[in-house]
Amino acid sequence: MKIEMVDLKSQYNNIKSEIDSAVVSCLESSSFINGPEVKEFQSNLQQYLNVKHVIPCANGTDSLQIAMMALDLKKGDEVICPSFTYVATAEVIGLMGLTPVMVDVDPSTFNLTASDIERAITSKTKAIVPVHLYGQSCDMEPIMKLAEKYDLFVIEDNAQAIGAVYTFSDGRLAKTGTIGHIGSTSFFPSKNLGCYGDGGALMTNDDELADKMRMIGNHGQEKKYYHKVLGCNSRLDTIQAAILNIKLRYLDEYNISRNLMANYYDEAFSTINEIEVPKRQYNSTHVFHQYTVKVKNGRRNELQQYLSEKKIPSMIYYPLPLYKQEAFKQFVSTDFKLDTTEKLCDEVISLPIHTEMNIDHLEFICNSIKSFFI
Ligand SMILES: Cc1ncc(COP(=O)(O)O)c(C=O)c1O
Repeated sequence: MKIEMVDLKSQYNNIKSEIDSAVVSCLESSSFINGPEVKEFQSNLQQYLNVKHVIPCANGTDSLQIAMMALDLKKGDEVICPSFTYVATAEVIGLMGLTPVMVDVDPSTFNLTASDIERAITSKTKAIVPVHLYGQSCDMEPIMKLAEKYDLFVIEDNAQAIGAVYTFSDGRLAKTGTIGHIGSTSFFPSKNLGCYGDGGALMTNDDELADKMRMIGNHGQEKKYYHKVLGCNSRLDTIQAAILNIKLRYLDEYNISRNLMANYYDEAFSTINEIEVPKRQYNSTHVFHQYTVKVKNGRRNELQQYLSEKKIPSMIYYPLPLYKQEAFKQFVSTDFKLDTTEKLCDEVISLPIHTEMNIDHLEFICNSIKSFFI
């Protein structure tokens, strides 16, 4: 039995005939850039997310950059983001000449909280980038209230949580990525909604921001060869859009199957004191982009080694806080330290979770982990 961290090949085989015919149809039309499938995907995703505008682009990192370009942030402006996230979130902030202000995350949800954000706000703060890490929404209502109080923009980094639903205190539901001023996402192949190369998108309910982001992603042009602002070349390929149109139909089904696997893991680990399973927030669904547990008593690395001997893949997302990375030292003092982030980097381990996993895989992984702790 071969266990994969993510099994894109089996997933493809299950939808092969639909994908193949969509790709062949793109090849035959040869409309490789901005073909009709891109518009179709834009409209399908708008409908799925219940958002006014979706602007497809080349990848998730570009989507964050285009969002920040559209907000007219100036050199030296501060942007608050978590220190426990994928590099792209903070990388783009630094690359734009802005200052990433990294704050700690909640130890049980792995997400930014309004109280930690508020402590980091200064007169230079212009924006907040909450990341819905591993597939569960940050508590967005207090974050949006804070943003209103201090007049800040909110860009949701929704690369890991597409399809997750947040519930406001009045019962209103919203998909992640549609709550802030701008949402950004990635269609990297291993994402819950992944294409077969690079892809990304922005979302917003603001008409003006939508026009601006569309223009920035297309060389700053409103009309062909008339460039209003400096932009970039960031388009979603037609072939990728055609693939995403098909995969979007399966997204809810995929997210349900990830939840069933997470439930199985939760149950299996309930008797192991050294493992803390991921907390489910009362006001967000979880789409389990990753199933990430915390391993106590300093045994995380030993467990990973044991799993690898049993040919069970696992990943550490993320092994080093961003502020300790060489590239980010310029933004922090030498003694800068965030306790929860440091602890999480030592304790977290993500286990295989994908749409083609079966009960035999789960049983083998869980029994192996149980026998490690006995
Ligand atoms: C939280 C987060 N933000 C941004 C990105 C960047 O997306 P991409 O790889 O499509 O540029 C990723 C992708 O891994 C991510 O996980």
